Amino acid sequence: MKKIPFQTAAHNFTLFIFGASGSLAQLKLFPAIYELVKEGRMPKDFKIVGYARTPMEDAAFRKLFEKSIRKNEKNVDEAALKKLLENVFYFSGAYDSEADYKNFLKRLKEVEETPDRVRMAYFSVPPSVFPEIFTNLAKVNFNTKRCALRLVIEKPFGYDLSSAKKLKRKLDKHFKPEQVYLLDHYLGKEAVSNLLSLRYANSILTNLFNREYVSNIQISALEEKDIEGRANYFDNVGILRDMVQSHVLQIIAYLTMYAPKEQTGEAIHHQKARVLNSLRLDKPYESIVRGQYKGYNKEKDIPADSQTETYAALKLRIKHPLWKDVPLYIRSGKCLKKKWTAVVLEFKPHEVQEKQSNVPPNRIVIQLQPYEKIEFHLLTKLGGKTFDFHELTTGRPIYCSGDCLGEHGRLLLDVVDGKRGLFLNFEEIFAAWKIMDRAQHWCDKESKKCAELHSYARGTLGPKAADELLRKDGFTWFNAFPND
Ligand code: BG6
Repeated sequence: MKKIPFQTAAHNFTLFIFGASGSLAQLKLFPAIYELVKEGRMPKDFKIVGYARTPMEDAAFRKLFEKSIRKNEKNVDEAALKKLLENVFYFSGAYDSEADYKNFLKRLKEVEETPDRVRMAYFSVPPSVFPEIFTNLAKVNFNTKRCALRLVIEKPFGYDLSSAKKLKRKLDKHFKPEQVYLLDHYLGKEAVSNLLSLRYANSILTNLFNREYVSNIQISALEEKDIEGRANYFDNVGILRDMVQSHVLQIIAYLTMYAPKEQTGEAIHHQKARVLNSLRLDKPYESIVRGQYKGYNKEKDIPADSQTETYAALKLRIKHPLWKDVPLYIRSGKCLKKKWTAVVLEFKPHEVQEKQSNVPPNRIVIQLQPYEKIEFHLLTKLGGKTFDFHELTTGRPIYCSGDCLGEHGRLLLDVVDGKRGLFLNFEEIFAAWKIMDRAQHWCDKESKKCAELHSYARGTLGPKAADELLRKDGFTWFNAFPND
């Protein structure tokens, strides 16, 4: 096998985390930083500095950091953890005080060993706080000689198309586009990038993945977990904005876009935006199913009369030459039977199959999580003199080989390196909001047309009404999860 370079941080760096005491940072970011240290991917001089309003000493922040790593990792590499914690610091400041940012810069200069470095600001705060941080970061100069400050902003990018445009205007006012890294962690997942590679590196898939052969596409992003204490955030956004607008639409883009002519970030963004712009939601009142798990409105800080959906299923159409008339079904939800993220393509029956009653369609199941796997569902002859069939499932896990790394770690190293290909641009974000705004219009409680909110039991596959969405078209959700 070709030797793949092992990606390490290309420069010394300081990563400052706004909202460092919040749950997102502890859940995803801290473990990723630990992984980079453990695998020897860090530069000689790296500093992680938390910035938040909560007053705290370095020691207390290090404890928080350590706790999140021990919670995530069974066999902690103590030497790596020690090395990491020695490079972790904390600064308590207000987000809207210029004086605090000036003091913060002084503190950075004290802890940084060399001025030759990349500085990155990571936003782990609610979007409502972004503007004041942008203004102050721009006023107090955090650029280094090596490069201008880099901003890492996690989805959701705005609340709808108009707020996403506002966010862009705010960023444009203070920063150059190349300073901004818009992060959707699904793009750091090998399994998600692999969708595009699988399609275009294998002619059997390249030739089959189009409207001539595919009868319908199903994308599932199911989660077993509930809202994990993020009541204020989640109740404001709901599952469409939290999961579908970003992660699910990105999966769709990789699955259905044309291969870019060049392997550049810009060419990929453009093809993604093109396919996202071609998504259509026809007859929304028949194409959206909303659900809420039982007990959601008893969760801490959730209003008793909350109408926020924790589950959504949608039928979309792709107005794209490759996929015209192929229905695309999406479902995503919390508190479901299983964590399962997968793409299923069902194929149109050949006339031999059509003559047989009750034979399942041929399918390709590309499972992205909990582990990557590709499965082909074929029909094979039943033994005997009759012309009957039974289903044969053949497939295997796709083990990552080469330079394998978790998603946040990979994306952080790319920011240090100034690589932008795995980040989003506003063209595709706007395209994603356009279709989501249309769906959201039928889901927002303020909307008179709000679709019914079905209640579903925890640990199930969501509301039964979601099955109807496919049944009307003569299809069924693929629910035979590998490992069941
Ligand atoms: C986040 C959402 O972006 O993705 C969470 O805000 C969700 O609600 C999470 O649980 C899922 O990510 P993953 O990588 O666990 O599939």
